[in-house]
This record gives sequence, C-alpha cells and structure tokens, in this order.
Amino acid sequence: MTLILTLETTCDETAAAVVDDHLQIRSSVVASQEKLHERFGGVVPEIASRAHLERILPVIETALEQAGVTLGELDAVAVANEPGLAGSLLVGLAAAKSLCLALDVPLIGVDHLQAHIYACRLASGRDVFPCVGLIVSGGHTNLYRCETPLDFTPLGGTIDDAAGEAFDKVAAMLGLGFPGGPAVERAAERGDPARFPLPRPLLDDPSRLEFSFSGLKTSVRYQLYGADQPTDPTQLDAQTVADMAAGVQAAVVDCLVGKVRRALEETGYTTLCIGGGVAANRGLREAMQRLAEELGLDLHIPPLRLCTDNAAMGAIAVEKYRAGQFAPLSLDILPGLRRPGRDATAAKPASAKAREG
Ligand code: KG4
Ligand code: ZN
Repeated sequence: MTLILTLETTCDETAAAVVDDHLQIRSSVVASQEKLHERFGGVVPEIASRAHLERILPVIETALEQAGVTLGELDAVAVANEPGLAGSLLVGLAAAKSLCLALDVPLIGVDHLQAHIYACRLASGRDVFPCVGLIVSGGHTNLYRCETPLDFTPLGGTIDDAAGEAFDKVAAMLGLGFPGGPAVERAAERGDPARFPLPRPLLDDPSRLEFSFSGLKTSVRYQLYGADQPTDPTQLDAQTVADMAAGVQAAVVDCLVGKVRRALEETGYTTLCIGGGVAANRGLREAMQRLAEELGLDLHIPPLRLCTDNAAMGAIAVEKYRAGQFAPLSLDILPGLRRPGRDATAAKPASAKAREG
C-alpha cells in the first residue's frame, strides 16, 4: 500500500490530505481563510500567505492524525506548485520539501487545475478520461482537452475575470458579502433573470473558446447605479437584488454552457468533467445536466467538498507516483497559467522571472 501526503496552498485554503494508491481518501483537512478576506471582498495575497504559514503544520498534523498514519509511513509527499498566488504556493512547497528531505521520500509536484479535474475521477470511482475539463473557480475559468489524467491541452479560458470573480464582484455591488457565489445563488432563487438585459460576451463567436466576464460587472454597475454614482447597495430593494442576481447567474451559465458545447464538438469527446468552486452553483449544475441529457454525455461534477479547493484532489499524485514522475528538491513554483500558445512565458518558474526582473 502506497501512502501519499498531499498539500494544497495555492490560494486561500490551507489543506492537507492522506490518500492511498487505491484512491481512498484516508483524511482531508481544509482550513479556510474566508473570514480573514471577507472584509476586503476578495483574497488579499499577503494575508493569505501569512495565514498559510500559521496553519500549514497544524493542518498536516491533523490530516495524519485523522488518517491514523505516522510520518514514517508516508511513501511520498505531493504539493500543488502551480498555478496560484506566489506567496501562498511557496508555503506549501517549502513544507513539502522539508518533509521529503527529513523523511527521505520523493517529492511530487501537482498542477492544481489538473487536480480539480481529477476530483471527478476520485468522486466517481471510475475512469473519466478522455474528457473535456471545465474548471470554474474564483481564480480560473478554463477549458481543457484531457486525454489522460496527466495529459492536458488548454482549449481556452477567460481573457479577463474568472466566473467566480464575476460572482464575487457582482455580490459586492449587490451588498451580498463574500464569497459572493453562494449568496448570488440564494438571491437568484427569488429573481427574474429577464428583468435586466446582461451581455454574454464571445458567446456568439464560435471561433473562440474564450470567456469574458468583466463586461458583466460593468453592465451591472451601470444599470444599478449609472456611470458616475458610487455603488450603494443599501439603496437597492430586495427584488432588484434578486432579479440582478438571477440575471447574472443566467448570463454566466449561458456562457459556460455555450463554450462547453463548442469544446465537446471540437474534441469529439462525450465525457465532461467540471471542477472548481463555481461548480457548486445549482443553476450551473442543472444547465450542464440538461446539456448532458441533450447530447448523451457522461457528466461528472464532484460533491462540494471536492469542488472547492482541497488537498484530496491531489490524489492525482498517485498517477505520477505510478509513472515515476518525481520532482527534484529544486522544484519551483509556477504561479502563472499555461494557456494556448503562451506556455513558454506564462508558466516560467517564478525565480526565473525574478532573475529576469
Ligand atoms: O475553487 P474555489 O473554492 O477557490 C478558488 O477560487 O480557487 O472557488 C471559489 C469561488 C468563489 O469565487 C465563490 O464565489 C465561487 O467559487 N462559488 C460559487 C458558489 N460557491 C462558490 N459561485 C457560484 N455559485 C455557488 N454556489
Ligand atoms: Zn482551485
């Protein structure tokens, strides 16, 4: 039996899990920083990295304890080293390297986005590859051709805000708090999605597998407050908030469904895997379910605890362990996103970028 400790500190969750090579999750611990970032309406990178530093060791200890596994029993340590916030990534990577050095076990680097899709494999208990992968979170909105768990080709992504970011920013304008996604979803239940006309950028352009959500928040702002008035959610009545929330959710869902449909056509795949915090959204789930029924797809959306950031999805390290894909202790963080045609610069190691100034 192979036991792997997996660490996740790419954004604002400090997480550790113990998984085995039968893909059983022996433990999965997530320390959320939501309360720390709430009053800023978004994740503050410096606060996130400091909080990771305080939490990482207790989180690791708890994960081992809950799994009933001692440090000496670990066969490898895996860590999400890309993409993410530089300071946050560094905390997880430093912890993983220290453990590997002390325990004399191999280090495995995990791509956080591949891990999000692998959560579907974990949750379903069966093979889900090849598939189209959609990752929708606060930091990412990307489409991938996933031939195998480790063989991902980017098909497209957002050219500005991520879908979750759009929910969070609109929620702030509606006075709904942070994180905004769940609050927008709740408000949308009582709303009329047709009251406010909202844009669906790039949806009608079949040549592009890209998303754009920044115009959405601008449109919300103009329709609620005009171009030059300050945003003041206290002046909005409950029905206006509900209608705008419903409209925004419908617009985001339409864009996601439309481009997923295109990605399925382009790849010819009939399996669709969705990951990331926004995959918790009921409107999105229902729309994807309808698409799956229409096209006869094998649709996978993991349960919430595996959709939002967690370390259990780092079980993708089991695939790397089997393939002998270990990382040297010189492994660096890769904060940037690999995008079509932009890999070389976007995914350069952070230290290389720093050296270049
Ligand atoms: O994957 P995640 O936990 O963290 C990263 O961003 O990596 O995703 C968090 C994002 C936030 O933007 C949050 O507003 C959004 O997911 N979210 C939702 C829902 N639950 C979380 N968005 C829409 N509907 C939801 N129910
Ligand atoms: Zn994530």
